[in-house]
Amino acid sequence: MARLSVKKLWVYCFCFSALLFFLIVTLQVLVELGQFEKKKPHHSDLRGNKHEVDQLNLFKKNNLLNGIERLSDPGHQYPILVWWSPLTGEDSRLAGCGKNTCFFTIDKTYYDHPMTEGFLFYGTDFNIESLPFPRKASHHWALFHEESPKNNYKLFHEPSITLFNHTATFSSHSHMPLTTQYLESVEVLKSHTYLVPLSKKNSRRQNLAPLVYVQSDCDPPSDRDSYVRELMKYIEVDSYGECLHNRDLPPPLKNPSAMDDRHFYGILAQYKFILSFENAVCDDYITEKFWRPLKLGVVPVYYGSPSIAKWLPSNKSVVLVNTFASPQDLAEYIKDLDQNDKKYEAYLEWKWTGEISNQMLLTTMKERSWGVQDISQDNYIDAFECMVCNRVWENTNRKKQGLVPRLWQAQANHLSCPAPKAFSLSHGPTRWSSVREVWKPSFEQSKKEAHALRQLAERNANFTVEEFWKLVFKD
Ligand SMILES: *[C@@H]1O[C@H](CO)[C@@H](O)[C@H](O)[C@H]1NC(C)=O
Ligand SMILES: *[C@@H]1O[C@H](CO)[C@@H](O)[C@H](O)[C@H]1NC(C)=O
Ligand SMILES: *[C@@H]1O[C@H](CO)[C@@H](O)[C@H](O)[C@H]1NC(C)=O
Repeated sequence: MARLSVKKLWVYCFCFSALLFFLIVTLQVLVELGQFEKKKPHHSDLRGNKHEVDQLNLFKKNNLLNGIERLSDPGHQYPILVWWSPLTGEDSRLAGCGKNTCFFTIDKTYYDHPMTEGFLFYGTDFNIESLPFPRKASHHWALFHEESPKNNYKLFHEPSITLFNHTATFSSHSHMPLTTQYLESVEVLKSHTYLVPLSKKNSRRQNLAPLVYVQSDCDPPSDRDSYVRELMKYIEVDSYGECLHNRDLPPPLKNPSAMDDRHFYGILAQYKFILSFENAVCDDYITEKFWRPLKLGVVPVYYGSPSIAKWLPSNKSVVLVNTFASPQDLAEYIKDLDQNDKKYEAYLEWKWTGEISNQMLLTTMKERSWGVQDISQDNYIDAFECMVCNRVWENTNRKKQGLVPRLWQAQANHLSCPAPKAFSLSHGPTRWSSVREVWKPSFEQSKKEAHALRQLAERNANFTVEEFWKLVFKD
C-alpha cells in the first residue's frame, strides 16, 4: 500500500514537471510570436498600396480554386511562383518585372500545377511542417530573410541555407543583399533635421547623461544588457527602455508605437552618444540602431556586425565597442570626448560638412534595386519577387534557345552567424545568463535541425514532423 502511494507520488511529480516544462516552452513560443506579431504590420505597410496590379485584385483565391476557371485564369500562361510561407497578406497577383511577368500566389494547391516553377519562403515563418516535397529538379527555392537568427536559427547553417537557389538576406554576400534595409537614403543620413549644436548638448548635460540606451527586447543573443549593466558602473547612462530602465519618457511617448515619433527623436538628438547594440552579432546584420543616431547627429557607440567598419559614413563617425578592452576603458574614452569639445566634434565633422567618404556605402545605396518608404521605387519584397521571376524567365528563354539552364545556389555565407557568445565580464556571483541558458543551447540544437532538414530534403519525399524531430534527437 505504502509502496503504491510512493509510486503514485512519483508519477504525479513526473506529470507535474512535464506540465511545467510544457508551459515554459509554450510561454517562450508565445513571447517570440508576440514579438513577431508586433512586427507584422511593418511588412504589409511596406508593400503599401502602390501596385496597380494589386488594385485589380482579380485573382482572388476562390476564383482560382475551381477547375474551369483555373485553366482560364491569367496565371496559367505565366510562370507561377508560390509563396510557401507568405510574407504579405496578399493572396495572388500578376507582377510585371521589366519585360517579364510572373504569377505570385499563396495558394499551395498550385504545388503540382505544370506552370509552377518555384517556391518562395519567408525565413521567420519557414516551417518544416509541410514543405513542397518532392522537389522537382526544375523547382527554384528562394528565401527572403531580413531578420537576425533570433528568428529561425536553423536556417543559419550550411546544410539548410544551401537548399535554396536564391536569397535575399542581410548578408552582403546574398543574391539580393538587404544590408542597408534600415537606411532610406544618403540624404537622410546627411540631413540636419534633428541635429543639435554642441553648445546646446553641453547645456543639456546638466539634466541628461552623456549616453542614452533604449532597448525593450532584453537579454538577446548578443548579451548587450550584460555589457551595458557593467558600463553603467563607470559612466552615467539614461535608459528609457524596459531593459536596465532608469529614466521615464514623457508620458505621451511611453507607447512603443510612438518610437518613430519626431518628439522621441528630438529627445534622443540632445544626447552626445547613443548605445547602439544589435540583438545578435552577425556580419552585415545592421539595423536602425546603427543608422538612427547617424541620421539624428548623435555619435553611435556600436556593437554588432563585425563587418561594421566597412559601413561607416566616414572613418571618424562611430565609437566601436570592439576596440576597447573593457566597459571601463570605453567609459573613460567617452568621458574624455564628453569633456573635450574638439575631440567630440571630430566625430560629427562628416555630418556638418555633409561629406560621406565611404564610396562603398554610396555605391551600394545608388545601385540597390529597391527603396525604403519610397513610393517612387519598388520595396524590397517586390524586388525579391522580380529577381526570382527574372531568373526563372532567363532559364525559360535559354531552354527555348537550346542552351543549358543557368544554375544558382545559396552559399553558406548568405546567412550565417557565429554561435552566440557572452561577454567575459568580471561580475561577482554568477548571474543568470540568457546566452548560457537559452541562446547557446538553442543555437546548438538548430545545427542538428539543419542537418536533419538536409537529410530529409535529400530523400526528397514528404515527411512528418515526428520524423524530423526523431532525426534531430537521434543521438
Ligand atoms: C579610412 O582611413 C583609411 C586609412 O587611414 C583609408 O584607407 C580609408 O579609405 C578611410 N575610409 C573612409 C571611409 O574614409
Ligand atoms: C536549385 O537548387 C537545387 C538544390 O541545390 C539544385 O539541384 C538545382 O539545380 C538548382 N536549380 C537552379 C535553377 O539553379
Ligand atoms: C504531405 O503529407 C501531408 C500529410 O500526409 C499531406 O497533407 C500533404 O498534402 C502532402 N504534401 C505533398 C506535397 O504531397
